[in-house]
Amino acid sequence: MKWFLLFVAALGLGLATADSSADSIETTYNYYRLPTSLRPQKYHLRILTLLENPEDLRFSGSVKILIEALENTKNVTLHSKNLTIDESQITLRQIGGEGKKENCVSSTAVNPSHDFYILNTCQELLAGNTYELYMPFAADLNRQLEGYYRSSYKDPVANLTKWISVTQFEPASARLAFPCFDEPDFKAPFVVTLGYHKKYTAISNMPEKETKPHETLADYIWCEFQESVPMSTYLVAYSVNDFSHKPSTLPNSALFRTWARPNAIDQCDYAAQFGPKVLQYYEQFFGIKFPLPKIDQIAVPDFSAGAMENWGLVTYREIALLYSAAHSSLADKQRVASVVAHELAHQWFGNLVTMKWWTDLWLNEGFATYVASLGVENINPEWRSMEQESLSNLLTIFRRDALESSHPISRPIQMVSEISESFDQISYQKGSTVLRMMHLFLGEESFRSGLQAYLQKFSYKNAEQDNLWESLTQAAHKYRSLPKSYDIKSIMDSWTLQTGYPVINVTRDYAARTAKLNQERYLLNTQVARAYRGGCWWVPLSYTTQAVQDFNNTAPKAWMECGKNGESLPKTIQDLPGPDQWVIFNTQLSTLYKVNYDAQNWKLLIETLTNGDFERIHVINRAQLIDDALYLAWTGEQDYEIAMRLIEYLQREREYLPWKSAFENLKRVGRIVRQTPDFEFFKRYMKKLILPIYEHLNGINDTFSAIPQQDQVLLKTMVVNWACQYQVGDCVPQALAYYRNWRAEANPDEKNPVPINVRSTVYCTSIKHGSDSDWEFLWTRYKKSNVAAEKRTILTALGCSREVWLLQRYLELTFDPKEAIRKQDSMWAFQAVAFNEVGFLLAKKYFMDNVDFIYKFYHPLTKDMSRLLSPLSEQVITLSDFNEFKDFVNNSRQSLKGLEQAIQQTLEIMLTNVQWKERNYHQMSRSIQQLL
Ligand SMILES: *[C@@H]1O[C@H](CO)[C@@H](O)[C@H](O)[C@H]1NC(C)=O
Ligand SMILES: *[C@@H]1O[C@H](CO)[C@@H](O)[C@H](O)[C@H]1NC(C)=O
Ligand SMILES: *[C@@H]1O[C@H](CO)[C@@H](O)[C@H](O)[C@H]1NC(C)=O
Ligand SMILES: *[C@@H]1O[C@H](CO)[C@@H](O)[C@H](O)[C@H]1NC(C)=O
Ligand SMILES: *[C@@H]1O[C@H](CO)[C@@H](O)[C@H](O)[C@H]1NC(C)=O
Ligand SMILES: *[C@@H]1O[C@H](CO)[C@@H](O)[C@H](O)[C@H]1NC(C)=O
Ligand SMILES: [Zn+2]
Repeated sequence: MKWFLLFVAALGLGLATADSSADSIETTYNYYRLPTSLRPQKYHLRILTLLENPEDLRFSGSVKILIEALENTKNVTLHSKNLTIDESQITLRQIGGEGKKENCVSSTAVNPSHDFYILNTCQELLAGNTYELYMPFAADLNRQLEGYYRSSYKDPVANLTKWISVTQFEPASARLAFPCFDEPDFKAPFVVTLGYHKKYTAISNMPEKETKPHETLADYIWCEFQESVPMSTYLVAYSVNDFSHKPSTLPNSALFRTWARPNAIDQCDYAAQFGPKVLQYYEQFFGIKFPLPKIDQIAVPDFSAGAMENWGLVTYREIALLYSAAHSSLADKQRVASVVAHELAHQWFGNLVTMKWWTDLWLNEGFATYVASLGVENINPEWRSMEQESLSNLLTIFRRDALESSHPISRPIQMVSEISESFDQISYQKGSTVLRMMHLFLGEESFRSGLQAYLQKFSYKNAEQDNLWESLTQAAHKYRSLPKSYDIKSIMDSWTLQTGYPVINVTRDYAARTAKLNQERYLLNTQVARAYRGGCWWVPLSYTTQAVQDFNNTAPKAWMECGKNGESLPKTIQDLPGPDQWVIFNTQLSTLYKVNYDAQNWKLLIETLTNGDFERIHVINRAQLIDDALYLAWTGEQDYEIAMRLIEYLQREREYLPWKSAFENLKRVGRIVRQTPDFEFFKRYMKKLILPIYEHLNGINDTFSAIPQQDQVLLKTMVVNWACQYQVGDCVPQALAYYRNWRAEANPDEKNPVPINVRSTVYCTSIKHGSDSDWEFLWTRYKKSNVAAEKRTILTALGCSREVWLLQRYLELTFDPKEAIRKQDSMWAFQAVAFNEVGFLLAKKYFMDNVDFIYKFYHPLTKDMSRLLSPLSEQVITLSDFNEFKDFVNNSRQSLKGLEQAIQQTLEIMLTNVQWKERNYHQMSRSIQQLL
C-alpha cells in the first residue's frame, strides 16, 4: 500500500456473527496463526452484489476451497469475520487421494479473538488427501472502507447518488468478504465469478473469461474471470461499478486501463500515460515480465489508505490517481506519479514475492517506496525526485526514529491491530532509506543482480529478509563490492532489527591528520542516560575533503564495525588534510546517521558556506549540515550560536533541498517560540532569512511558466508559503489581491485566476486575513469542486481562519456525516485547525472533550484517528500541559485503543518540547538577536 495517507486496519472487534448455532469456543487452540495441517490449493469464489436499493446494499456468495491435508486433522480452521454463514449448507468431500470416504462437518465453532471459524469434521482428514469445502455466506456492503464495502459519488447531471462496491483486504480483511485462509503465505489461485445487474461493469484481478445470464434474477449476469496465478488473499480484489475507463496499452505490454467515475474520467489521462511506462521500466529493472495479461487502476471515491496494490487491479484514493491540469499543482502531479510507481513496484515486490509473515512487511513497503523513486526518476529525471524523496525520507526518519518509543523495522507481529500499526514511517521511509544505503554501498551491478536472483528464486512464493540478504551477499561477493569477510546479514541486521540510528562524533587530530570516530544512538529525549544510548550500527563510511570535493563517490572508504557482542568499536581514519581544510562525512547522505564534528571542523565548514563557495558542497550535504547542526543544537550537543551562524548562508542559497531541510527544522522551533514573548525576534529573523530568496523568485507573482527547472517550482511554492506566513515582502497583499480577483469572477468554479502552484498559500492567507464571507466563498467552492487535489487544498486552507467561532464550527462540521467532508478526508480539516496557532487550543479541547465520539466516528480506522495527534504533540510546551494530556490519556484508555504507539510518540514529543523550552529557549533567542 501507499504510505503518505497511511493505512488503516481492523481492530479485533470480537464480533462474530457466525450462525447462532455455533458451539462455544474450544480452548485447545488459541495460537494467533492458523494451524498448518491444511493448505488451500484453489479458491472458486462466487459473489452476487446488490446495488439497486440504497437502503439495502449487500452481497451473498459462496466459496469452494480445494484443500490439501499435510497432516491428519479433525477440523478445518480458517478466517471469517462478520459474515453470516448458513451452517446447514456447508459441505465437505474428499476429491483426491486414497480411499474416497464420505465426509461432512459435524459442528462449527468460532474463536472471535483471532477471527477463526472452526469446522469439526465427521471423519478425520488424512495427510496426502485433497478435499473440497463449500461454504455459503452473506453480509452487508459495509461503510467501514474495508473488506467488501460500499462507496458513492454524486452524478451531477442526473442529480443522483450512485453506489459502487469495492474491496480493501490488506492486511486482514479478506475474511470480512469471504471465508478463507487469510495469512500471506497461504497462496493459491483464485477463480472469481461476480453476479450483478447488467447496467454495471465488474472488474477483478484477472481479465473477464465469460458472461452468462443469472439463473433467476432478471437483468442480472454472472461474469467469470480467468484463473489467477497463485496469490495471497490480501491481494484479491473486485469491484462492481458504473465507471468509465481509458485504455493505454504500450506495444508488447499487458493491457492497461484506468478507471474513474464518469464525470472524472478526463482526470485519468496523466496516470493512464504514466502507469504503462513505469510498468515497462520495472520489467527491465527486475528482469521479469509482468505476469498477468492485464492491469487496471481505479480511483475509488471513499478509500482509507492512499492506494492498494491488488494484483492486476490497483485501487487508489482519487487524490492519488487523478490529475487535472487546471486544478492540480506540480506537487499533486508528482504525488500521482509516486503513488502509481509505488503500487506498480509492488506487483513484483509484494505480489510476486510476498513476505512470509507481517513481521517483514517492511520488505514490501520499503522496497516499493525505494523502487518507486527509481521509477519516477527514470521517467521524469527533470523533477530530480530521487534526491527529493531521499532527503524527505531521511528528514522524516531522523525525527521519528530519534524517539525512544520508536521500533525496529522488522518487528514481531501477533495481533491484527499490530499489523496495522506497522504501516508506518518506519516500514516505509526507514525501509526505503536503508535500501538506498545498500544500493549505494553495493553499487548498481551487485544490487540489481542480487535482487533479480531473489525475485527469480521466490516467485509465487514467500520469503523473509534473510533470504534477500543471502542473494545480495552472493552477488556482492561475486562482483567484489563487499569484503569477503563481510556479509549483508550482519550489516543489515544492525539496521533492521535495532531501533534507531547513530550519531557519529568525528574528532580530528589536526597534527596527526587523523580522525577518531565514535557512535552511539541519537535520541531527542536528553534525559535518557548514556548507558541507554548503546547500540552499534555497521556504518559504511564515505567522506570527502575540502581539497578533493568528490561528493559523487558514495562507495565506502571504510566501515564502522561492531564487535562480537554487538558493542561499537571506535574507528580511526588516516591521511586526512591539515587544520586549514574541512572534511565532510556521509556523501550525499547515503547512510542514516548524524555527524557531529569538533569545533574547528564546524568553523571551516561555516567559512566555506558563508564566503560564497557553498556550491562546492553537494546540495544534499548542504541539507545535511543544516539538519545536523540544528538537531545537535536542539539536543544541546552543539551551540545554537554555531547552528544559527551556519544557516545564515541560506540568504544566498537558491536550491530546494537545503531550504527544505531548514524549514522543517525552523517550523518546529517556530511552533514553540510563537507561544513565547520572544517570538518578535524569531519573526524578524525569519523575515531576514526569507526575503532574498523570495525576491529572487519574484515572490508570489505568477512567473511559473518562465521557470525552466521543475524543482524551482517546488522551491517557489514552499518559499511563498513561508513568506506569507511571516508577512515577507509583498506576499500578503498580493495573495489577497489574487483572492479578490477570484471572488470577482462571474463563474469562480470554472475560472480561477490564482496560479495553481500557490493556491494553498493564497487561500490560507486570504482566510487568515479575510472575512466570514471569504470563508463561505471557499467552503462553497469545496462543495462544488470535482477534483480531489483541489478539495484537499481548500480543506486545509479553511483551517487558517483566526475567528474562533469559525474554527469551532469547522471542527464540528468536519465530524458531521451529513456534511460534505468524507470521513477519509476529515483528518486534514482537523489538522489544519490544530496546526493553526489560534485553532490549536480549540482543537485540543475538542479532541479531549469528544474522544469517545471521535473514536466511534473512526472505528475501525484507528490509524486515521492517530493522525489527529501530531499537531497536538508539536505544540505542547509546558510541563503542566504535558501532565494534563498524560492524565487525559490515562483516563481515556478505552477510547484510544489501537493508538498505543501513536500515544507513546505524542507524549514523548511533548516531553522533548518541554525540555527544549527549559534548556534552549533563551540561548536560541539570544543567538537570534545577535544576528538581527
Ligand atoms: C484443529 O486441528 C489442528 C491440527 O490438527 C489442531 O492443532 C487444533 O487444535 C484443532 N483446533 C481445534 C479448535 O480443535
Ligand atoms: C460487523 O457487523 C456488525 C453487526 O452487523 C456491524 O455493526 C459492523 O459495522 C460490522 N463491521 C464491519 C467491519 O463490517
Ligand atoms: C437534487 O436532489 C436533491 C435531493 O433529491 C434536491 O434537494 C435538489 O434540489 C436537487 N438539485 C437539483 C439541481 O435538481
Ligand atoms: C559525542 O560528542 C558529544 C558532544 O561533545 C558528547 O556529548 C557525546 O558523548 C559524544 N559521543 C560519543 C559516542 O563519543
Ligand atoms: C559528479 O556527477 C555529476 C552528475 O553526474 C557530474 O556532472 C559531475 O561532473 C561529477 N563530478 C565529479 C567531481 O566527478
Ligand atoms: C510582483 O509584481 C508586481 C507588479 O508587477 C511588482 O510591483 C512587484 O515588485 C513584484 N514582486 C516581487 C516580489 O517580485
Ligand atoms: Zn505499499
